Amino acid sequence: MISVRGLSKSFGGQKVLDGLDLDVARGEILAVMGPSGTGKSVLLLHLIGLMAPDAGEIYIDGINVTRLKERELLKFRRQVGYLFQDSALYDFMTVEENLSFPLKEHTRLKANEIKAKVEAFLKMVDMAGAGSKYPSELSGGMRKRAALARALVLGSKVLLCDEPTSGLDPIRSRDISMLIRDLSRQHGCTTVITTHDVRNAFRSADSAVVLCQGRAVGRGSEQALRGLTDPFVKEFLE
Ligand SMILES: Nc1ncnc2c1ncn2[C@@H]1O[C@H](COP(=O)(O)OP(=O)(O)O)[C@@H](O)[C@H]1O
Ligand SMILES: [Mg+2]
Repeated sequence: MISVRGLSKSFGGQKVLDGLDLDVARGEILAVMGPSGTGKSVLLLHLIGLMAPDAGEIYIDGINVTRLKERELLKFRRQVGYLFQDSALYDFMTVEENLSFPLKEHTRLKANEIKAKVEAFLKMVDMAGAGSKYPSELSGGMRKRAALARALVLGSKVLLCDEPTSGLDPIRSRDISMLIRDLSRQHGCTTVITTHDVRNAFRSADSAVVLCQGRAVGRGSEQALRGLTDPFVKEFLE
Protein backbone atom coordinates (compact mmCIF):
# COMPACT_ATOMS: atom_id res chain seq x y z
CA MET A 1 0.00 0.00 0.00
CA ILE A 2 2.85 2.35 0.92
CA SER A 3 6.21 1.92 -0.69
CA VAL A 4 9.15 4.25 -0.17
CA ARG A 5 12.27 3.80 -2.27
CA GLY A 6 15.61 5.50 -1.81
CA LEU A 7 14.12 8.57 -0.15
CA SER A 8 16.74 11.22 0.54
CA LYS A 9 16.40 14.70 1.98
CA SER A 10 19.01 17.13 3.26
CA PHE A 11 18.68 20.55 4.84
CA GLY A 12 21.77 22.63 4.26
CA GLY A 13 24.58 20.15 4.73
CA GLN A 14 22.55 17.93 7.06
CA LYS A 15 21.38 14.62 5.61
CA VAL A 16 18.11 13.75 7.34
CA LEU A 17 16.82 10.94 5.11
CA ASP A 18 19.49 8.96 3.31
CA GLY A 19 18.15 6.44 0.83
CA LEU A 20 15.31 5.28 3.06
CA ASP A 21 13.30 2.22 1.95
CA LEU A 22 10.05 1.32 3.66
CA ASP A 23 7.03 -0.84 2.82
CA VAL A 24 3.71 -0.92 4.60
CA ALA A 25 1.24 -3.61 3.57
CA ARG A 26 -2.47 -2.87 3.16
CA GLY A 27 -4.12 -2.83 6.56
CA GLU A 28 -0.82 -2.88 8.44
CA ILE A 29 -0.03 -0.53 11.33
CA LEU A 30 3.63 0.42 11.40
CA ALA A 31 5.44 2.51 13.99
CA VAL A 32 8.43 4.52 12.85
CA MET A 33 10.47 5.15 15.96
CA GLY A 34 13.53 7.17 16.75
CA PRO A 35 14.77 9.90 19.06
CA SER A 36 13.70 13.45 18.26
CA GLY A 37 15.44 15.07 15.33
CA THR A 38 15.88 11.81 13.39
CA GLY A 39 13.51 12.77 10.58
CA LYS A 40 10.22 11.16 11.58
CA SER A 41 8.10 14.24 10.83
CA VAL A 42 10.12 14.89 7.69
CA LEU A 43 9.25 11.37 6.50
CA LEU A 44 5.51 11.86 7.11
CA LEU A 45 5.53 15.23 5.37
CA HIS A 46 7.02 13.51 2.32
CA LEU A 47 4.31 10.83 2.43
CA ILE A 48 1.59 13.45 1.95
CA GLY A 49 3.63 15.51 -0.47
CA LEU A 50 4.07 18.51 1.81
CA MET A 51 7.81 18.12 1.34
CA ALA A 52 9.59 17.22 -1.88
CA PRO A 53 12.51 14.77 -1.71
CA ASP A 54 16.00 15.37 -3.10
CA ALA A 55 15.84 11.82 -4.46
CA GLY A 56 13.65 8.74 -4.25
CA GLU A 57 10.07 7.71 -4.90
CA ILE A 58 6.96 7.26 -2.79
CA TYR A 59 4.04 5.13 -3.92
CA ILE A 60 0.78 5.17 -2.02
CA ASP A 61 -1.96 2.89 -3.32
CA GLY A 62 -0.27 2.89 -6.72
CA ILE A 63 0.11 6.69 -6.89
CA ASN A 64 3.60 8.07 -7.28
CA VAL A 65 3.29 10.90 -4.79
CA THR A 66 6.59 12.51 -5.74
CA ARG A 67 5.36 13.08 -9.30
CA LEU A 68 2.01 14.66 -8.51
CA LYS A 69 1.32 18.20 -9.66
CA GLU A 70 -0.06 20.72 -7.19
CA ARG A 71 -3.70 20.18 -8.19
CA GLU A 72 -3.37 16.37 -8.04
CA LEU A 73 -1.65 16.66 -4.68
CA LEU A 74 -4.62 18.51 -3.20
CA LYS A 75 -6.91 15.71 -4.32
CA PHE A 76 -4.50 13.03 -3.09
CA ARG A 77 -4.16 14.61 0.37
CA ARG A 78 -7.91 14.30 0.90
CA GLN A 79 -7.50 10.54 0.74
CA VAL A 80 -4.94 10.52 3.53
CA GLY A 81 -5.83 11.12 7.16
CA TYR A 82 -3.14 13.07 8.99
CA LEU A 83 -2.98 13.49 12.73
CA PHE A 84 -0.59 16.35 13.39
CA GLN A 85 1.60 16.38 16.47
CA ASP A 86 -0.12 19.49 17.81
CA SER A 87 -3.58 18.24 16.71
CA ALA A 88 -3.94 21.31 14.43
CA LEU A 89 -7.65 21.78 15.00
CA TYR A 90 -9.02 25.13 13.83
CA ASP A 91 -9.15 27.20 17.01
CA PHE A 92 -11.95 29.43 15.79
CA MET A 93 -14.26 26.49 15.06
CA THR A 94 -16.04 24.20 17.49
CA VAL A 95 -15.16 20.52 17.46
CA GLU A 96 -18.31 19.83 15.43
CA GLU A 97 -17.36 22.50 12.89
CA ASN A 98 -13.83 21.10 12.69
CA LEU A 99 -15.28 17.76 11.61
CA SER A 100 -18.00 19.09 9.33
CA PHE A 101 -15.65 21.42 7.48
CA PRO A 102 -13.90 18.74 5.34
CA LEU A 103 -17.27 17.10 4.67
CA LYS A 104 -18.78 20.39 3.45
CA GLU A 105 -15.75 21.14 1.31
CA HIS A 106 -15.17 17.75 -0.24
CA THR A 107 -18.40 15.76 -0.28
CA ARG A 108 -21.94 16.29 -1.53
CA LEU A 109 -23.53 15.16 1.70
CA LYS A 110 -26.58 17.11 2.83
CA ALA A 111 -26.53 19.10 6.06
CA ASN A 112 -28.43 16.45 8.03
CA GLU A 113 -26.14 13.70 6.70
CA ILE A 114 -23.09 15.69 7.72
CA LYS A 115 -24.56 16.23 11.18
CA ALA A 116 -25.22 12.51 11.60
CA LYS A 117 -21.75 11.58 10.38
CA VAL A 118 -20.03 14.07 12.68
CA GLU A 119 -22.04 12.78 15.63
CA ALA A 120 -21.10 9.20 14.81
CA PHE A 121 -17.41 10.05 14.52
CA LEU A 122 -17.42 11.99 17.78
CA LYS A 123 -19.08 9.06 19.50
CA MET A 124 -16.45 6.75 18.05
CA VAL A 125 -13.69 8.71 19.81
CA ASP A 126 -15.74 9.02 22.99
CA MET A 127 -16.45 12.72 22.45
CA ALA A 128 -20.22 12.62 22.12
CA GLY A 129 -21.54 15.76 23.78
CA ALA A 130 -18.32 17.74 23.32
CA GLY A 131 -19.12 18.90 19.77
CA SER A 132 -20.00 22.46 20.76
CA LYS A 133 -16.73 23.03 22.61
CA TYR A 134 -13.82 24.99 21.15
CA PRO A 135 -10.38 23.35 21.02
CA SER A 136 -9.13 25.71 23.74
CA GLU A 137 -11.76 24.26 26.09
CA LEU A 138 -10.49 20.71 25.62
CA SER A 139 -7.74 18.76 27.37
CA GLY A 140 -4.76 17.60 25.32
CA GLY A 141 -6.14 14.08 25.15
CA MET A 142 -9.54 15.30 23.92
CA ARG A 143 -7.90 17.48 21.27
CA LYS A 144 -6.00 14.44 19.98
CA ARG A 145 -9.18 12.38 19.85
CA ALA A 146 -11.09 15.12 18.05
CA ALA A 147 -8.20 15.48 15.59
CA LEU A 148 -8.18 11.71 15.07
CA ALA A 149 -11.90 11.77 14.28
CA ARG A 150 -11.30 14.61 11.82
CA ALA A 151 -8.43 12.69 10.20
CA LEU A 152 -10.78 9.77 9.50
CA VAL A 153 -14.04 11.54 8.70
CA LEU A 154 -13.52 11.61 4.92
CA GLY A 155 -13.04 7.84 4.87
CA SER A 156 -9.27 7.82 4.35
CA LYS A 157 -7.71 4.43 3.94
CA VAL A 158 -4.29 5.75 4.86
CA LEU A 159 -3.74 7.23 8.31
CA LEU A 160 -0.55 9.04 9.32
CA CYS A 161 -0.06 9.97 12.97
CA ASP A 162 2.82 12.17 14.06
CA GLU A 163 3.80 11.58 17.71
CA PRO A 164 0.24 10.86 18.85
CA THR A 165 1.27 10.53 22.51
CA SER A 166 3.47 13.60 22.79
CA GLY A 167 2.38 15.92 25.57
CA LEU A 168 0.00 13.38 27.10
CA ASP A 169 0.21 11.68 30.48
CA PRO A 170 0.73 7.87 30.59
CA ILE A 171 -2.99 7.02 30.82
CA ARG A 172 -4.01 9.35 27.97
CA SER A 173 -1.04 8.06 25.95
CA ARG A 174 -2.17 4.49 26.38
CA ASP A 175 -5.77 5.38 25.49
CA ILE A 176 -4.95 7.24 22.28
CA SER A 177 -2.54 4.48 21.24
CA MET A 178 -5.22 1.82 21.65
CA LEU A 179 -7.80 4.03 19.98
CA ILE A 180 -5.56 4.48 16.94
CA ARG A 181 -5.18 0.73 16.73
CA ASP A 182 -8.93 0.06 17.08
CA LEU A 183 -10.00 2.71 14.59
CA SER A 184 -7.32 1.76 12.05
CA ARG A 185 -8.63 -1.79 12.15
CA GLN A 186 -12.30 -0.80 12.05
CA HIS A 187 -11.77 1.48 9.07
CA GLY A 188 -9.35 -0.83 7.28
CA CYS A 189 -6.61 1.81 7.32
CA THR A 190 -2.99 1.36 6.47
CA THR A 191 -1.37 3.34 9.24
CA VAL A 192 2.02 4.85 9.96
CA ILE A 193 2.70 6.26 13.40
CA THR A 194 5.85 8.12 14.28
CA THR A 195 6.91 8.13 17.89
CA HIS A 196 9.77 8.08 20.36
CA ASP A 197 7.48 6.32 22.83
CA VAL A 198 8.50 2.66 22.48
CA ARG A 199 5.98 1.30 24.93
CA ASN A 200 2.96 2.89 23.31
CA ALA A 201 4.24 2.26 19.80
CA PHE A 202 3.55 -1.41 20.31
CA ARG A 203 0.11 -0.71 21.74
CA SER A 204 -0.81 0.68 18.33
CA ALA A 205 1.40 -1.03 15.84
CA ASP A 206 1.82 -4.50 14.37
CA SER A 207 5.49 -3.85 13.87
CA ALA A 208 8.05 -1.10 14.07
CA VAL A 209 11.24 0.17 12.52
CA VAL A 210 13.82 2.49 14.01
CA LEU A 211 15.02 5.48 12.00
CA CYS A 212 18.78 5.59 12.18
CA GLN A 213 21.02 7.89 10.15
CA GLY A 214 18.32 8.45 7.59
CA ARG A 215 17.39 4.83 7.07
CA ALA A 216 14.90 2.40 8.56
CA VAL A 217 16.63 -0.23 10.67
CA GLY A 218 15.04 -3.47 11.81
CA ARG A 219 11.47 -4.47 11.31
CA GLY A 220 9.29 -6.43 13.61
CA SER A 221 7.84 -6.88 17.04
CA GLU A 222 9.29 -5.30 20.15
CA GLN A 223 10.97 -8.60 20.89
CA ALA A 224 12.49 -8.83 17.42
CA LEU A 225 13.83 -5.28 17.68
CA ARG A 226 15.29 -5.96 21.10
CA GLY A 227 17.16 -8.88 19.55
CA LEU A 228 19.00 -6.60 17.11
CA THR A 229 22.65 -5.88 17.74
CA ASP A 230 22.70 -2.45 16.09
CA PRO A 231 24.10 -0.21 18.86
CA PHE A 232 21.88 2.76 17.90
CA VAL A 233 18.73 0.60 18.09
CA LYS A 234 19.86 -0.92 21.37
CA GLU A 235 20.49 2.47 22.91
CA PHE A 236 17.17 3.83 21.69
CA LEU A 237 15.15 0.91 23.08
CA GLU A 238 16.74 1.19 26.52
N1 LIG B 1 11.86 22.70 7.00
C1 LIG B 1 13.05 22.41 7.53
N2 LIG B 1 14.14 23.18 7.29
C2 LIG B 1 15.34 22.87 7.82
N3 LIG B 1 15.58 21.82 8.60
C3 LIG B 1 14.55 21.01 8.89
C4 LIG B 1 13.23 21.27 8.38
N4 LIG B 1 12.40 20.31 8.82
C5 LIG B 1 13.16 19.49 9.58
N5 LIG B 1 14.44 19.91 9.63
C6 LIG B 1 15.53 19.24 10.34
O1 LIG B 1 15.49 17.87 10.03
C7 LIG B 1 15.78 17.09 11.19
C8 LIG B 1 14.68 16.09 11.43
O2 LIG B 1 13.52 16.79 11.82
P1 LIG B 1 12.16 16.07 12.21
O3 LIG B 1 11.71 15.21 11.10
O4 LIG B 1 11.24 17.14 12.65
O5 LIG B 1 12.60 15.18 13.45
P2 LIG B 1 11.66 14.25 14.35
O6 LIG B 1 12.21 12.87 14.22
O7 LIG B 1 11.83 14.76 15.74
O8 LIG B 1 10.26 14.39 13.86
C9 LIG B 1 16.00 18.06 12.33
O9 LIG B 1 17.39 18.25 12.51
C10 LIG B 1 15.34 19.32 11.85
O10 LIG B 1 15.97 20.43 12.38
MG1 LIG C 1 8.58 15.13 14.79
